Amino acid sequence: MFTIITGTQFGDEGKGKIVDLMAREYDLIVRFQGGDNAGHTVVVDGKKYKLHLTPSGVLFDARLLIGPGTVMNPQTLATELNTLADEGTVVDEKKLGIDAKTSIIMPYHVELDGLGESARSVKIGTTKRGIGYAYIDKVARDEVQMSDLADEERLRRRLEELTPIKAAQIQSMGGDPSIMEDETWIRTYIELGRRFAPFIADVSHEINTALDQGKKVLAEGAQGAHLDVIHGTQKFVTSSSCIAGSACANLGVGPTRVDEVVGILKAYITRVGEGPLPTELKNRTGDYIREAGGEFGTTTGRPRRCGWFDLPLVKKSVALNGYTQIALTKLDVLSDMHPLKVCVAYELDGTRLDYPPESTADLARCVPVLEDLPGWDGDLTGIRSMDALPDGAIEYLSRLESLVGVPFKYISVGPGREQTFIK
Ligand code: IMP
Repeated sequence: MFTIITGTQFGDEGKGKIVDLMAREYDLIVRFQGGDNAGHTVVVDGKKYKLHLTPSGVLFDARLLIGPGTVMNPQTLATELNTLADEGTVVDEKKLGIDAKTSIIMPYHVELDGLGESARSVKIGTTKRGIGYAYIDKVARDEVQMSDLADEERLRRRLEELTPIKAAQIQSMGGDPSIMEDETWIRTYIELGRRFAPFIADVSHEINTALDQGKKVLAEGAQGAHLDVIHGTQKFVTSSSCIAGSACANLGVGPTRVDEVVGILKAYITRVGEGPLPTELKNRTGDYIREAGGEFGTTTGRPRRCGWFDLPLVKKSVALNGYTQIALTKLDVLSDMHPLKVCVAYELDGTRLDYPPESTADLARCVPVLEDLPGWDGDLTGIRSMDALPDGAIEYLSRLESLVGVPFKYISVGPGREQTFIK
């Protein structure tokens, strides 16, 4: 059984929580793209775990894998594993595998990300974790892979080869090229390479073997459909492909092996960083949703921009991902708001559009066509079944489900693992 989970919007839909919930049924949980720009908050028994790289199912027995399509900062991973160990969860090489071909995020990628962002007259609002520059190096074939990191001699040879290129680039962007010769981080990276050498794996082979043996594999996406580097709202996107097909390509698993594709969908929409967000509420209603939903970035702490549920964008996500089911999150946040609004279409230059225009510039000019729904009163966070929901919440869910056209399987009404029920 091979299941792929992806975000339907701009990330931060609550994927970590749903993966954590589903994890107990899976043998392998795999990250297939992105890096520590992602942030998952998992809450168990009231305790918060903030993870950036470690796959979300870490608190269960499943084996975890970091695939070759990700970009991995070994310092972030080491810090996460140390924190988890302090809290009693030991993640060793039996628990976690890292593909030999995984691209390593180097300190100069982080430096370049900062320089690049400050040089841009129109910002992207990146997380400044070096993601884009690590992917540039992958495509340019100038990357350092996990297997290079684990071998001091190879790492040093690779750095020797890359130093003139990177130093010139950093200098041309107004930075300090001496970072390339700084033995402090180089020694730290050599140590990290030694630490993670036993974790090296062949992720594609491991997944395909597990599937052959009838095991269950869950591929966990980071970010969301509209941050996809190919199909998203360029240039305001991340540097990897976040849609379901990317799981197959990045993990080396054939598309014929996919059984389920689960879309994580927030009951409203948020976005962090720049770029179009047609239903954005730049008013007190937006501030209310941000506060009620705790909409502040896990990775950067930045306030997230909030807006009404945006159907055209979700329709596009359904097309891009081929969802078989949806997990609807954060329904509880919309309590006590009257009326609730849902964007059912856009208007652009006097024409009604049921599907987003392909050009980002046109999307930025779209005006939402809003439909009112009555909403409901009262706290939903203690509710554990569909029939216990107030009528207004059932009406909201039913309307969304019929508009989206994919069955809603999970409904989440709070951050805790227990605050989710099957519809
Ligand atoms: P980068 O991935 O750091 O290069 O950032 C590019 C864009 O993607 C920025 O708008 C970020 O805010 C956004 N982004 C990256 N990762 C996440 C995430 O996990 N959730 C939401 N937005 C993200």
